[in-house]
Amino acid sequence: MIKKVAPAFSLNGTITPPADKSISQRAAIFALLHDGKSVIKNYSPAEDPQSTLSCVELLGASVTQLDDVVVVEGRGRYGIQPLSDELDCGNSGTAMRLLSGVLVGSGSSVYLIGDPSLSARTMKRIIDPLESMGAHILARNGMFAPLFVTREDPLIPIEFELPIPSAQLKSCILLAGLFGETPTKVIETVPSRDHTERLLNLDVEVVDGKRVISASLNNKIPNQSYTIPADFSAAAFWLVAGSILPDSEIRLENVGLNPTRTGLLDILLKMGADITIENKHEEGAEPAGDIIVKSAQLRNIDLDPKVIPNCIDELPILAVAMMYAQGTSIISGAEELRHKETDRIMAIAKMLDAVGGVYEEMEDGLVIRGNPEFEFESGEFDSFHDHRIAMASAVLSLKGKSDSEIESAESAAVSYPSFWDDLDGLVEG
Ligand code: S3P
Repeated sequence: MIKKVAPAFSLNGTITPPADKSISQRAAIFALLHDGKSVIKNYSPAEDPQSTLSCVELLGASVTQLDDVVVVEGRGRYGIQPLSDELDCGNSGTAMRLLSGVLVGSGSSVYLIGDPSLSARTMKRIIDPLESMGAHILARNGMFAPLFVTREDPLIPIEFELPIPSAQLKSCILLAGLFGETPTKVIETVPSRDHTERLLNLDVEVVDGKRVISASLNNKIPNQSYTIPADFSAAAFWLVAGSILPDSEIRLENVGLNPTRTGLLDILLKMGADITIENKHEEGAEPAGDIIVKSAQLRNIDLDPKVIPNCIDELPILAVAMMYAQGTSIISGAEELRHKETDRIMAIAKMLDAVGGVYEEMEDGLVIRGNPEFEFESGEFDSFHDHRIAMASAVLSLKGKSDSEIESAESAAVSYPSFWDDLDGLVEG
């Protein structure tokens, strides 16, 4: 679908973005592992969490969904019983990687398949450690889906230092480790999102500045009955849009504020954004609150590579903020971006090209020359079927002088099905 986006002079209003995608997917998978009923409130309607829910059902849980409430009757770790020899993870890397851990732990033999984008993303990062735990994984060219996951030998608990700061890899190994008699330990030097540790209540020690997270059969899997907060990564589009469009004020309600996710908030504040937080509270094991953003004059920033894991999904929209900041901004140490739903460094570069932006592409990031007065007529954007590129392009389009076009705009539904309606609502203010 090609979406036309008209210029907007300001954005105003209150919205509640969809439920957190990472937490929704974990809630479904952990509820499968829990022996008993979980009532998950505000489960995300987006495509990725729905793919995960279908997989959880095919692994033997009974799932009932009524509006945004999902009831999962889990069978416990030993009750996992694949009802199909194939699980379709759609576009979701989180589903494929976390479920691989569950399959290896439970010793189930299943094919994991995905859409063309997911089938082009490397799974080597999970294959090697899972094989060292006793699994046997067949993959196209040794690293791509479809994956056939099986384990006939006894599970071998491991100590594994993460070679990249990836929460999907961390969670995959910990989920397999939950089935071991002795603990599997994952060692993390650069912290990544910690929803798995929080929602499973895992032991975390800090040794020599590194986080050591353990999982074994001794961990009781908690009931996953809680309300999922709105997705900070979805709110991110409005944080930038509200900052760069004049006379704007947007209130984002009940948004997840887990500090391992809110890197963009700190970055925008350093850039001079006008953002405040109200009603801070806990939603289950996760902090949440309302975020209010008002227009502001942004200035440039040179990102510390250490913050990249805490804003990795927000870099496409941050690039739009950098376009309208005073001075030259730098994103570096972000090579991981090349391994997302698409090569996002390339895709950001193409997005900036579409409006004549001034930037330099590097192997691990971008240097972006900002200009608060930057003007362009309109853009023809290719989203590369990547939800976050489609939504970042939409925000950039609002700054054009005439209508812009976004190709494969329907991809927004992977994480944010109501994005286009929310945009219309804020434009009408
Ligand atoms: C996610 C972790 C991140 C993130 C992805 C969701 C998760 O990926 O980019 O959108 O739910 O754990 P990596 O762990 O591969 O960095």
